[in-house]
Amino acid sequence: MRLSVRLNFSLIIGVTLVSLALALYQAQSETRGLKRDLERHSFELAETLEKSASPLVANHAAVELQRLVDHFQNRQRVAGVAVYDDRGNALAITSDLATRLGSNTPPVAQAALRENGAGKFFRLGEQRMHVFELPIKAGATVIGALAIFHDVAYISARQAATWKHALAGLAVQTALIVCVTLLILRWSLGEPLARLTQWLHEVRTGSASGGPELPEEETFQPLKREVARLATTLTAARAAAEEEARLRNAAEALWTPERLRIFVQEKLGSSRLFAISNREPYEHLRRGNTVECSVPASGLVTALEPILRACDGTWIAQGTGDADHETVDQHDRLRVPPDHPQYTLRRVWITPEEEQGFYFGFANEGLWPLCHIAHTRPTFRAQDWEHYRVVNRRFADALLEEAAGEENPLVLVQDYHFALVPAMIKEARPDARVAIFWHIPWPNPEAFAICPCQRQLLDGLLGADLIGFHIQSHCNNFLETVERTLESRIDRERFAVNRRGHFTSVRPFPISVTFSNEPGDAAPRESTWLERATLFRELGVEASMLGVGVDRIDYTKGIPERFRAIERFFEKYPIYKRQFTFVQIGAPSRTHITRYQDLLEKVSEEAQRINRRFETSSWQPIVFLPYHHSHKQILPYYRTADLCMVTSLHDGMNLVAKEYVAARSDEQGALILSHFTGASHELVDALLVNPYDTEELADAIHSALEMAPDEKRARMARMRAYLREHNIYRWAGSLIAELAALRIDAGERRKRPQPDSTEVESFAAAR
Ligand code: G6P
Repeated sequence: MRLSVRLNFSLIIGVTLVSLALALYQAQSETRGLKRDLERHSFELAETLEKSASPLVANHAAVELQRLVDHFQNRQRVAGVAVYDDRGNALAITSDLATRLGSNTPPVAQAALRENGAGKFFRLGEQRMHVFELPIKAGATVIGALAIFHDVAYISARQAATWKHALAGLAVQTALIVCVTLLILRWSLGEPLARLTQWLHEVRTGSASGGPELPEEETFQPLKREVARLATTLTAARAAAEEEARLRNAAEALWTPERLRIFVQEKLGSSRLFAISNREPYEHLRRGNTVECSVPASGLVTALEPILRACDGTWIAQGTGDADHETVDQHDRLRVPPDHPQYTLRRVWITPEEEQGFYFGFANEGLWPLCHIAHTRPTFRAQDWEHYRVVNRRFADALLEEAAGEENPLVLVQDYHFALVPAMIKEARPDARVAIFWHIPWPNPEAFAICPCQRQLLDGLLGADLIGFHIQSHCNNFLETVERTLESRIDRERFAVNRRGHFTSVRPFPISVTFSNEPGDAAPRESTWLERATLFRELGVEASMLGVGVDRIDYTKGIPERFRAIERFFEKYPIYKRQFTFVQIGAPSRTHITRYQDLLEKVSEEAQRINRRFETSSWQPIVFLPYHHSHKQILPYYRTADLCMVTSLHDGMNLVAKEYVAARSDEQGALILSHFTGASHELVDALLVNPYDTEELADAIHSALEMAPDEKRARMARMRAYLREHNIYRWAGSLIAELAALRIDAGERRKRPQPDSTEVESFAAAR
């Protein structure tokens, strides 16, 4: 049945029932009123008449009585009057009435003779009549009775009229309801639905722009949201399909989230994917009365998130936000991303004391400076090592809990925070395929040898089936370190270590970013220029050329070196004053550590010093923004900066360099990139620099600003073509392919001699 028919039908039934009930009520009340009036009128008339009739009845004056009752001939609605003696025999009846009644003259009710009068209805042929009877008294004695007859046809006539009105009203209301309902349906539903249909048609045919146009009313909002999501999914699916088709055409092999998902399913069958990292992808923070969700600044998070999304895995990480506890379920889990859940985050809690020892101490004052050749002395404390072991054990236990019941789980351990976790997992779950990816450089064996726990760290790492680094030289350094430190066999051909019968492959996997595969759209210069002008206006700077740096404030990033080069650039090329401004976005990081606090202060002072030297009332050479920016906030800087500077003193990969290239769909801009980053091995079209060489760096800024648009385009296009292919999905795909191809001997644990417990556990034993 059509919606309009259904709606009208139900409304009409409802209105009809209500109208009929009202009409019935009205008719009944009216009838009751008319009857009440009739009784009252009959009583009053009878009382008056009784006074005149009483002496006549007492004197048996039949003629006078007849005259009296004949007065009531043809009176409005009074049909007549009858007088009876005390035995109920009629003494006189109005002549007309007597003719109508004939032999039907009703005997007077005995009750009427005793009581104070009573009325009743009766039928006379086709007619309804009413009679009211009253005793006639002489003093206290009843000597007869008096009856007043009324025609009551007018009551039925009034009832009929009431029903007629009600039905006519009902017909008008029904017509109105039908019209109004049809109009409402048309305005409130018909038109929006027609617009929605048209929009969906456009989405399907790929010509839609913007979202569906639906009224702002609350009722439409869920529909609007769902339809918009559906359209986004459809658009993404179409884009992926088109991309696949384009690639099939070009015989390329581009990695997409979809391809990764299918690839992982094929490689692992029913096995599930788990990732472990210290930094969590979503942190819940209390801001006044509300809880905000933020994505921490971390290259690791940037890289891992798309993989977990593609495979619906479980990510185990430390809960660090002050509202993190409130946002998990009883198993410390939650589904993320919050607005479009695609995988599970399992939070692990550690105490402030453990965080001090594990995170600030051993990981960031020990291993971080140990692995980065940036001239900051590593500090190793026995207490920190104890916390490092305890926290590694807690994360391994969390993984074992999450993977309980899962066959051959695939575990991707992340970074230097968890060197001991691979061995802990393999010990309990030899069937698990375990990889650890070391996101930071691995130094040469001499540098690593200063770590008092180097043997335990290496043993922990070699529990993995696969160890990944960003570049080949880190793999080489690692193998040499193992060779010099542990009793083991190194297979240089297969790039593997055999330690007590367990094989660990060591491979480079250069990490990357998602790359939104659209071909270079060469966005009009105008829009870039306008967007940049808006940024300058917001910053309160009058300039036309923009440079950008995006880093955590970390001594490995070479930020003071960068600032000195900018100072030198203005000394050498003063013509760029009031034209070029460098914006340094710097997320404060690890600020509990004195070295980091000092650095933050130093970077800020350097920016101020250089600004004081060159600034004018409306321009400054450096804008330092020392707070966390989301990727969305950083994008306009990437999109519009004439140059981006990555001047790390040492860096495993550096994803800022890749993000900048990925953001330049206009194929403009220039990347200045330190030789000492992993990224410099791939982005060879960047202006490669030694960050320690201030002159070279200053000249690189000059070259980037002077570079002809065609050369910029050619360099950027090559770097983008490389990244399009070598994206994060490819990174994950190769890591998983390598891991899945390894032969895992689940019985190996029983065969493997257990390491000496003092060797594994004590800090002192390592020295
Ligand atoms: C580097 C490390 C990551 C770390 C990130 C941010 O990229 O390789 O493991 O998450 O720095 O540092 P944070 O200490 O804030 O996690």
